[in-house]
Amino acid sequence: MNNSTERKITIAIDGYSSSGKSTMARALASAIGYRYIDSGAMYRAVTLWAMRNGLVAPGSEPDVERIVEGLPLIDIDFLVDGQRQLTTLNGEVVENEIRSLEVSNCVSPIAAIPQVRHAMVAMQKAMGRSKGIVMDGRDIGTVVFPDAEMKVFCDASAEQRASRRFKELTDKGAQVTYQEVLDNVKTRDHIDETRSEGPLRCADDAVRLDNSDMSIEEQNRWLLDLYHQRVSQS
Ligand code: DC
Repeated sequence: MNNSTERKITIAIDGYSSSGKSTMARALASAIGYRYIDSGAMYRAVTLWAMRNGLVAPGSEPDVERIVEGLPLIDIDFLVDGQRQLTTLNGEVVENEIRSLEVSNCVSPIAAIPQVRHAMVAMQKAMGRSKGIVMDGRDIGTVVFPDAEMKVFCDASAEQRASRRFKELTDKGAQVTYQEVLDNVKTRDHIDETRSEGPLRCADDAVRLDNSDMSIEEQNRWLLDLYHQRVSQS
């Protein structure tokens, strides 16, 4: 449990898609009484808005100009429901919709639009102003919170990550094949790593974690130990 007299720090957790970073980030935030923000949910919410407005569809290029024009009309927020964080888009809870494979297939080109990134990064910086936050994403330790006291970069093989995502999706009843999920993971890795703005990259001062062979309990324990080390050093 977090001691309220302890100095609050900023925790940035980056890594590849489906590398288990959200699960560990959420568990850490809950254990130490910090706010948790899933920054990927914000890019997913913009994508859902664009899909609903006919500005992007799987397999086609997004209408960048109209998406950028629409940014001021997009209000993204989070509701806290017990241990869960529910993403809202213009007041509507869209937590399930933003996790669909359709959104996953469209999100990377949208997250590569510089104006979209600038708008999301500004919101994320504002959310972290009073510290006491765990945020996960791709550019949190490099762009959003370059001064974060604790930075972790999660990695795992594409096959391992696709198996996790496949299980998550099929558990929810989605009709997808493992191969479709693996292709999506690899395509997103490539777009995330090669975009010009905020590419996925391990910050120089981040601790790397390859969690391919770790259980969720082992990851959570590892992260909590690192947090205690950082707090005692800061
Ligand atoms: O973590 P995720 O799979 O829910 O992220 C969805 C997409 O958003 C993913 O393709 C990468 C992108 N993203 C990003 O570009 N920057 C972030 N900070 C978080 C996610």
